Amino acid sequence: MRIGILNSGGDCPGLNAVIHGVVGAAHHQGWEVVGFRDGFEGLLPPGDSMVLNPERTVGIMKLGGTILGTTNKGHFVAKVGEGNVSEVPREIVERAKTTLHHMEIGALIVVGGDGSLTTALQLYRMGIPVIGVPKTIDNDLQATAMTFGFDSAVHSVVDALDRLHTTAESHKRVIVLEVMGRHAGWIALYGGMAGGADVILLPEIGFSMPLVAEAIKRRDARGHHSTLVVVAEGARLESGELLKRQNIGGKGEDRLGGIGEYVASQIEKFTGKETRSCTLGHLQRGGAPTALDRILGVRFGAMAVHLISQGKFGRMVSYQQYQVGDVAIEEAVNQLRLVDPQSEIIRAARSVGISFGDDGAAKAR
Ligand code: F6P
Repeated sequence: MRIGILNSGGDCPGLNAVIHGVVGAAHHQGWEVVGFRDGFEGLLPPGDSMVLNPERTVGIMKLGGTILGTTNKGHFVAKVGEGNVSEVPREIVERAKTTLHHMEIGALIVVGGDGSLTTALQLYRMGIPVIGVPKTIDNDLQATAMTFGFDSAVHSVVDALDRLHTTAESHKRVIVLEVMGRHAGWIALYGGMAGGADVILLPEIGFSMPLVAEAIKRRDARGHHSTLVVVAEGARLESGELLKRQNIGGKGEDRLGGIGEYVASQIEKFTGKETRSCTLGHLQRGGAPTALDRILGVRFGAMAVHLISQGKFGRMVSYQQYQVGDVAIEEAVNQLRLVDPQSEIIRAARSVGISFGDDGAAKAR
């Protein structure tokens, strides 16, 4: 048998580990693997692909990015069509089917986030034998407790905070670090806690600038003259507004950004303290994956091949309770896993003195 693999949407560390896992497990079954380039675009006739074998993929596990390339725009963007249904134009999916048929691809593995998995589900419903592998650096898919790439992103945030700490202390400044997290604040929460942030602002917990300022002034009063603030790019202003760098109107997702600068300017206004802001941006998505992400990626890839061998199409690889298993793709899409403001981790953070800029019971440290 010959199987295909593509990754779609934003890259993240660990994608090459998934490819390594798929190629290794498929080779074990005696199958050939074809990698499609640049996401779903590689499926358009005549097909843009490369043969993947153990010789080609040796050593790729430790590399960031993806050897296949990726895209989050192109022909496979869902559009509102007949009956007000949002989907990829059917004619485009038919063209992808033609490519897969001509290339004698018996199964297709799609590695992607919520949007790409929705496309994968449409492909499956239109007759393509598909297996999904979850990829979201924000770690926000409900159907899996963890995805590869998240741990590497958290490490980047911690590294940045360690560096910002020393300069903030030297100058007795407040420094605001804006990190990724469009809908969910997991990167800000984990990175902030591990990196010793004093204030963490999340999309899930409404904050007010006077309360953020109060937390900083309390620290000053206790002799801590520097403060580190971590803010997720998807944290909203008190008005509920989301700050965007670019509104791309229906051609994908708007580019978020600017909340860090806003929070920094407001802190300076409310506290009179010298404040700087810094946006970590794509430094979080680049670079080598951590050991955890490499292992998770390889396990996800091996499971995708196992699901093909079982004929379990329309399923997505999922990590639950220390085990890699599978769920229906339709259960996985459109359901985000957000930070629960009442959860144990938030209580723990508050109990050690972290402020979320709300009126929750944080003890000043
Ligand atoms: O969805 C993952 C993510 O990294 C978000 O956190 C961020 O808003 C977005 O992708 C950035 O996308 P791009 O690489 O297209 O700028």
